[in-house]
Amino acid sequence: MSERIIITGGSGRLGRSVVEGFARAGFEVISVDRSTPENPIEGVDYHSLDLLDAAATEQLFTTIAPTAVISLAAIAVPFSAPEDVILRTNAGIAHNVTAASVASGAKKVIIASSPSIMGYGSPAGWVPPRLPLDEDVTPKPWHAYGLSKYVAEQVAAMFAQQTSDVKFISFRPCYVIAPEEWEGAPTQQGHTLKERLDDPALSAVAMFNYVDARDVTDFLITALKNIDRVENGAVFFVGAADALARQPLSELIPEYYPELAHLAEGLTGDAPAFSIQKAKEVLGWEPKRSWRTELVE
Ligand SMILES: NC(=O)c1ccc[n+]([C@@H]2O[C@H](COP(=O)([O-])OP(=O)(O)OC[C@H]3O[C@@H](n4cnc5c(N)ncnc54)[C@H](O)[C@@H]3O)[C@@H](O)[C@H]2O)c1
Repeated sequence: MSERIIITGGSGRLGRSVVEGFARAGFEVISVDRSTPENPIEGVDYHSLDLLDAAATEQLFTTIAPTAVISLAAIAVPFSAPEDVILRTNAGIAHNVTAASVASGAKKVIIASSPSIMGYGSPAGWVPPRLPLDEDVTPKPWHAYGLSKYVAEQVAAMFAQQTSDVKFISFRPCYVIAPEEWEGAPTQQGHTLKERLDDPALSAVAMFNYVDARDVTDFLITALKNIDRVENGAVFFVGAADALARQPLSELIPEYYPELAHLAEGLTGDAPAFSIQKAKEVLGWEPKRSWRTELVE
């Protein structure tokens, strides 16, 4: 049976690439977003909807009857709205979309979380048990965005406890680089990639993580294909194989996170601070793109 995929947040920075990649790969794609996209992709069915409206979300999803749902819609930037609004919006969307997916008969649901749930940057201090971070390290969110994404993961885990007929995955995409950003378009934080590389302080706030949006799309296609291999409710980091830095993190982390210096000694060469080993081992996914080959300097 061919896959009919609802992608929420399909008009966003990551969603645009995911919608395009899935459409190109031959999936039937339905994008559901509050905003309409600037450049709609031919063949994609676009719906405008506020996903905080639970009844309308369930009605639309049930009418579409997707085989799978990818949930990307959210307020995607910490502190870009009042804390209570971020928490209510992201937790509410995660719950509404997951509940509507189950009600619609979808058998696979993938929810976007974020590496920022781990807790780096906490003003009260943060020292994880090890670097690179892996999925067994306990998240310690310190802002409403991180908490809302942790809740989104727990929403997936909760539904996995309610039904074994549906498979749920959460994934934590690193700092997403849309294809045009390699050529100088502003990144999510407003500066260019070259500026982010030239001034490590800019990339340090995200622990030098990043991922190409097309590699995230490949991850999602691979995850849907190999979902039977996954423990229900599993979580995956999705990042590039290297760090977004011109120097090794064994040198940069002691400078920007002195309290983590002892953990960073092994992050030599181009090693990142986030492990993608689980996605490689369980799903067979590997990123194909690096700033070293993609950036137009
Ligand atoms: N961009 C990153 O670096 C990054 C990193 C980690 C996690 N993420 C997560 O990935 C997902 C996509 O991020 P993005 O960068 O594309 O964000 P984005 O802000 O570009 O896109 C989010 C989309 O969600 C839609 N949306 C928000 N509220 C909605 C609502 N109530 N109803 C319907 N649609 C709504 C917006 O209209 C927008 O098109 C988010 O869940 C984000 O938290 C992104």
